[in-house]
Formats: sequence, structure tokens, C-alpha cells
Amino acid sequence: MTEPKKLFIKTYGCQMNVYDSERMAEAMGTQGYVTTDVAEEADMVLLNTCHIREKASEKLYSDLGRLRPLKNAKPDMKIGVAGCVAQAEGAEILRRMPLVDLVVGPQSYHRLPAMADAVARGEKAVDTDFPAEDKFDHLPERKALRGPTAFLTVQEGCDKFCAFCVVPYTRGAEVSRPVDRLLREAQGLADRGVKEITLLGQNVNAYHGQGAGGDWGLARLVRALARIDGLERIRYTTSHHNDMEDDLIAAHGDEPKLMPYLHVPVQSGSDSILKAMNRKHTRDDYFRLINRIRAARPDILLSSDFIVGFPGETDQDFADTMDLLQTVGYGACFSFKYSARPGTPAAEKQAVEAEVADRRLQELQALITRQQRAAQEAMVGREVGVLIEKTGRMPGQMVGKSDHLHAVHVSDSNAAIGDLIRVRITGSASNSLAAIRL
Ligand code: SAH
Ligand code: SF4
Ligand code: F3S
Repeated sequence: MTEPKKLFIKTYGCQMNVYDSERMAEAMGTQGYVTTDVAEEADMVLLNTCHIREKASEKLYSDLGRLRPLKNAKPDMKIGVAGCVAQAEGAEILRRMPLVDLVVGPQSYHRLPAMADAVARGEKAVDTDFPAEDKFDHLPERKALRGPTAFLTVQEGCDKFCAFCVVPYTRGAEVSRPVDRLLREAQGLADRGVKEITLLGQNVNAYHGQGAGGDWGLARLVRALARIDGLERIRYTTSHHNDMEDDLIAAHGDEPKLMPYLHVPVQSGSDSILKAMNRKHTRDDYFRLINRIRAARPDILLSSDFIVGFPGETDQDFADTMDLLQTVGYGACFSFKYSARPGTPAAEKQAVEAEVADRRLQELQALITRQQRAAQEAMVGREVGVLIEKTGRMPGQMVGKSDHLHAVHVSDSNAAIGDLIRVRITGSASNSLAAIRL
């Protein structure tokens, strides 16, 4: 018997890349590849890249530089670049880095096995098309699963064109997968012991897929998924303010499997910056949305993304962002210094001075940390559900995620990985909660 070939995948960027990496691993599995965690022993290294900020893109080139000695020592090893940098830079990557054998954009992953064949014959392969066919229809069914949680991509791409963002260019237009495929994939996940599914999309609540009787929105999909036995928890990310439809908000109030946590990014608290960003909503619109969501599910925990130092951001604009945070009160937030991305409208504009942006980022992050701690403290004494994902460091301790997506350490839980248990929160540490089983 011949030894199986080994595939090493490194994933950068968002959760959709994590999902795509799993799917690519399975597609390559049909070609006789097994995955390895050790790059040195790989026959093929695949870098699944992110283009969102300059730092993310540059990581590709520094990692390729680090792979060079490995490839010199092992000339048969093939190197592939997938993901959003592959889409944005295409064949340019081969010119800049001749050690790369293969470049594949996010909409062409079903063609990866054929490309790997060509590469094995000593050719170079590049595919950054947006093909008419749905890649997911041509990828093998999911089998290899790790743990009781899974991602499920339901929607891809973005039509919003925020002035700073590369995603509409790297992922293409908004496309939703048909309902029957998603229900089948979710049923398969549940059959293999998955208890929690996170629905993914660059604008996941822009989901409008074909289902029985016509067009289904995300709320209807969530309710259908909730009827799958064994599937206990549903989450979705990332949602956009302008696609938050009434029936989805209502589902947060009356669909118990929909978890009380929602990531709904606002990016800035200043109306003039929101306008310059092309977000197409005001801060008051956002407050009204938050109020409606909280009216449906009072204990929901909210999170957001923020960009500081967007071109033209004044001290007053930044003060408005801080004020928006104070008004909303988040459970967690991600914050970034604006990074000018080639090809986006904002890249033409004069950036805010680096020191000013750095100072604002620090100030914002300090507030975010205070809010995160406060939200954790507020959980102490409460009873919540925890889905156990792994063993802890202490004897008898198990670690999982609460309904509100907090990491929870449960002492002497007597629980196994995959168990959904009730606990009482007893304490709050910097990034996790402590609990006892009820
Ligand atoms: N679809 C999601 C976001 C995808 S990108 C949404 O609409 O919110 C994830 C986050 O990266 C964004 O929310 C934004 O905060 C940040 N981001 C995107 N482009 C950026 C840029 N050019 N510079 C800094 N941060 C950026
Ligand atoms: Fe990027 Fe805006 Fe689309 Fe989100 S909504 S992916 S930030 S363009
Ligand atoms: Fe990055 Fe592409 Fe995701 S740019 S954030 S990997 S959609």
C-alpha cells in the first residue's frame, strides 16, 4: 500500500475561512490526502489567506519566506495559496513568489483536486474565477468533524461596498445556498453528534435562499433548523444592520434554540463617518435596532466591530464612537485601526495620523475591556447552559461555552465533551467564567 500524501493547511482570517479549509481538506481527501499538523512532513502546504487588513495580507508573504528553506530541502513539496489574497492578487503571487505552485480563489475550491493533479505533473495552476456553478455542489459531503460545534456557510459575498472593505471584491456578490442542501448538511452534522451550528455569511442575515414555496429568509431557515433533533443551539454571524428583518428579531424572542448573543457591527458612532463609510444607516437607526432586538430578547449579549482612524475622523467623531459604546453596552467587541486597502474608495483619502489612531484605538480598547468585564460580572450567580467542548487543566474540570458565548470552566462537572449541562456561574476571570454544575 502506498503511503497517503499529507496536506498541511494554515488558516488565516474569518470563520468562513475555517469552514472552507475543512471543506478543502475533505476535497483533497478524495485525492488520497490526509491532513497533518506538521508542515515539515507535508507533501502539500495550503495557505488559506485573508486580505482584510494590510497586516493580514503581509502574513502570507512572511510565511512563504519561512517556507522557502523547507521547499529547498524538499523540492517535491507543493505550495498552494487559497483565500482572499489569492482572489485579490491572483497570478501576481506566482510572479512575486516563484515557490508557489497553485493559487485558488474562494469560489473555485471545487476545482482544487484537478488543480492539485496539474501541480503534481509539474505545472503551475491559477484559478480566480467566479464560476456559475456552486462550489458546494461539487465538494464532497462533510465527514471529518471535531467536537460538538460546527460552522455552516449559508451565504457568501457582499453587495454593500463599505468604503474601506475588500470583501465585495474578494468574495464576490451575495449568494445564498438553497434550503434543502443546508437542511441536509445540518442533519448530517446532527447525525454525527454536532449540537451547535453557527451559520456563516459575510452578510448572513442577507440570506435569501430558495426553499419550499419560494424565497426563505434567515429567520425561516433558523426555525427549520431548530426542528432538527439533536441540534440544540443555533448562532449566526456576521449580520448587517440593514438586513435585520422583523421576523429574525422576533425569532430571538421565541425560538429557544437561537442563542442570546448577536454580533451586529456598527464600525463607528459618528454619523458623518458612517456616511463616509457608506454604511447606509445612522447612529440613531442603530440605536433603534438595538432597542428592538433587546425588546425581543432582553438578556441578549451584543457585540460589534469598530474601526478607528477612518479618513477624516475627528476628535468629535471618535467621541461619538465612545458615546455609542457607552449607550449600547456590549458584551464583547473587536476593534481595528483603519488600514487602507488597494482598490477600495477610502484608500484614495488622506489617512488619520498614525499616533492619533493608535491613541484612539487604545482608548477604545480600554472601554471595550471594561464593558466585557462588566458583562461577565453580571453573569455571576446566574444559571446558564454550557456546551462542553474540552477538558480543563484542573482535574475534573471541563470547559465549554455558555449560551451567551462566554468561555466557562466547570469544576467537577462529571460531564463529557458534547454534553449540554446547566451550571451556576460562580466567578469571573479576565477572559472566562467559573461555574459549578447544577
Ligand atoms: N461582513 C462583516 C465584516 C467583515 S470584515 C460586516 O459587515 O461587519 C470584519 C471586520 O474587519 C469589519 O467589521 C471591520 O471592522 C474590519 N475591517 C474591514 N476592513 C477594514 C479595513 N480596511 N481596516 C480596518 N478594519 C477593517
Ligand atoms: Fe465589508 Fe461592509 Fe460587506 Fe461587511 S458589509 S463585508 S464591512 S463591505
Ligand atoms: Fe479575510 Fe476574506 Fe474573511 S478578507 S475576513 S478571509 S472574507
